[in-house]
Amino acid sequence: MTTSTATAVRTGRAAARATGLNKVYGEGETRVVALDDVTVAFAQGEFTAIMGPSGSGKSTLMHCMAGLDTVSSGSSTIGDTELVGLKDKQLTQLRRDHIGFIFQAFNLLPTLTALENITLPMDIAGRKADKAWLDRVVDTVGLSGRLSHRPSQLSGGQQQRVACARALAGKPDIIFADEPTGNLDSRSGAEILAFLRNSVRE
Ligand SMILES: Nc1ncnc2c1ncn2[C@@H]1O[C@H](COP(=O)(O)OP(=O)(O)O)[C@@H](O)[C@H]1O
Ligand SMILES: [Mg+2]
Repeated sequence: MTTSTATAVRTGRAAARATGLNKVYGEGETRVVALDDVTVAFAQGEFTAIMGPSGSGKSTLMHCMAGLDTVSSGSSTIGDTELVGLKDKQLTQLRRDHIGFIFQAFNLLPTLTALENITLPMDIAGRKADKAWLDRVVDTVGLSGRLSHRPSQLSGGQQQRVACARALAGKPDIIFADEPTGNLDSRSGAEILAFLRNSVRE
């Protein structure tokens, strides 16, 4: 993935910003430049889609910007915090308190109920959920009657709604979603996208 600096960078405070980001996998014959000098900013309160062919670096960009993967060079910030150079513990805290991530494969824990999956990040952190906020999130994703179900007892669309609720529960500053509708039928997919768009609006 490459970007033109002139069109991609906005001025002002961004929810997330990458500057001159490079990510190289492997060495020698297996060397792959997944990100080649990518500069991009995502404004607060906006819903942005990243489009491109398979293998163009979309997942790599999101993983690097969300602190799930390290960059080869360049800068990546969430709000005012520079990710590059953070120690593991600081990075964990930043991810936990400020970033939500939704994966194509839901990534729910099969032995936990829907509610336990939603509150897991907070439970691990020893933080109490904001009850009113949690109720609202659960209500908005339409899971009120399914909270004691395990993932295997839920449809794909419902599982992804659990993942959305989990990402929102901690009131993150930004949510990255990597092909969140890729495993869903078109109707469930449209619901998830509408829900995410509304979350940004509200
Ligand atoms: N862990 C990895 N090791 C080596 N190459 C990788 C790895 N992850 C991704 N790549 C390569 O980086 C490029 C971008 O991949 P990716 O970010 O997954 O693209 P997209 O999400 O747009 O399909 C691809 O050529 C892919 O093969
Ligand atoms: Mg991808």
